[in-house]
Amino acid sequence: MVKMPTMRSIVILISGRGSNMEAIVRAAQTENWPVSIAAVISNRSDSPGLDFARQQGIATAVVANRDYSSREQFDEALRTSIDGFSPDLVVLAGFLRILTTPFVDHYAGRLLNIHPSLLPSFPGMATHRQALAAGVKLHGATVHFVTPDLDHGPIVAQAAVPVLDTDSEDTLAARVLEQEHRIFPRAVRWFIEGKLSLNAGRVRIDASAEQV
Ligand code: GAR
Repeated sequence: MVKMPTMRSIVILISGRGSNMEAIVRAAQTENWPVSIAAVISNRSDSPGLDFARQQGIATAVVANRDYSSREQFDEALRTSIDGFSPDLVVLAGFLRILTTPFVDHYAGRLLNIHPSLLPSFPGMATHRQALAAGVKLHGATVHFVTPDLDHGPIVAQAAVPVLDTDSEDTLAARVLEQEHRIFPRAVRWFIEGKLSLNAGRVRIDASAEQV
């Protein structure tokens, strides 16, 4: 008897363009992942990424942070919206909000983020500007499990790109984004296939996981 893979469900959070979300959705489709993309949720109703999700027939929701007077209230509303879809995994794909500890703890071990730098270098915003100012020769992207520490947490995957003398923030960002679109879908797929987990703060990746 052929063993069918367990079907998993994910919710993807975005704040804007949504190109990482799109890369994940397209990889799930073309590689036939055992996954249901239950919803794409944004904290901004004008996120262009919502249009792509709708075109794909994916449920969308908006939980607008500006409708809430405190971070705690917003996170609680967001959690209620996410949990309405009962996801196995929550994916932060360009979700540009600082999250409260109760929110992060609620999704411990099932909350992945992508950050456009080689963490622990350059947390926060304007990472490409930070990299150019620091004069680093290598820059890149990191997929990590989310912990209450902003842009920190157990690292799942990283990809590096050279920083060229001729780089502007835009050219560097474009080269990093290409890598984001490569490593983030891989990491999400590992989780979906049960090949990626977090145990006592340490990342475990199954030896059979296709390398990035
Ligand atoms: C991406 O570069 C992502 O790494 C970054 O926002 C961009 C969103 O682009 N995330 C962070 O800076 C999180 N700290 P996208 O909406 O096209 O995926």
